[in-house]
Amino acid sequence: MARLEVNVDHVATLRQARMINEPDPVTAAALAELAGADGIIVHLREDRRHIQDRDVILLRQTIKTRLNLEMAATPEMIGLARQIKPHVATLVPEKRAELTTEGGLDVMGLQDHIRQAVSQLQEAGIYVSLFVDPRADQLQAAAATGALCVELHTGAYAEAISEADADRLFEELLSAAAHARQLGLRVKAGHGLNYQNIKRFRGRREFEEYSIGHSIISRAVLVGLDAAVREMIVLING
Ligand code: PXP
Repeated sequence: MARLEVNVDHVATLRQARMINEPDPVTAAALAELAGADGIIVHLREDRRHIQDRDVILLRQTIKTRLNLEMAATPEMIGLARQIKPHVATLVPEKRAELTTEGGLDVMGLQDHIRQAVSQLQEAGIYVSLFVDPRADQLQAAAATGALCVELHTGAYAEAISEADADRLFEELLSAAAHARQLGLRVKAGHGLNYQNIKRFRGRREFEEYSIGHSIISRAVLVGLDAAVREMIVLING
């Protein structure tokens, strides 16, 4: 069975909109685990726009499955990861102005830098995964860094505007996954996956794990709204 790691960044986005202490991504992580999630993911961004250092520290202490820390390969983040020791670190590119991660890591262009980051994290006992576009050259470069795993960027597939495009981009993901496995890498997939576009992946053995955030948190807001409104009406009226 494929595993699901749930990204709780957007619970923190909602909290930071008010700068108060709820909703707490740490509580959300516990609920996701109780529902069967195989791991929890957070992206600690340089600008701390959603997840805070405190969240990562508490998650490391409290979650029962696995903590996957998405991070840029900067000295600050590497230092924090080496202290907090998440089970997994996923290296991603990061630009200050982006709304979410755009594109995979340019492992080919940053080979020495990424190799060094991978080894600094691995020395601290952290399992390292690289978020890459489904391209042969990037996969070869990823394997050469010593990382044991790649997460294939599914964003282009998720944004396909026609079924034919989605079919073609899905095939590209399948070939990239096969190539990565030939290179000895474990293969995950993520970004933009939702309750519709995940269906093509059902039963595919090429991918061991999915990393999904926004669509799950969006769904939770909507499916939870009915109960939340009813509870408030009872409180108002006694
Ligand atoms: N994988 C990576 C590397 C990401 O940066 C993100 C977004 O934080 C995701 C997966 C999850 O994407 P989404 O929120 O669209 O499910």
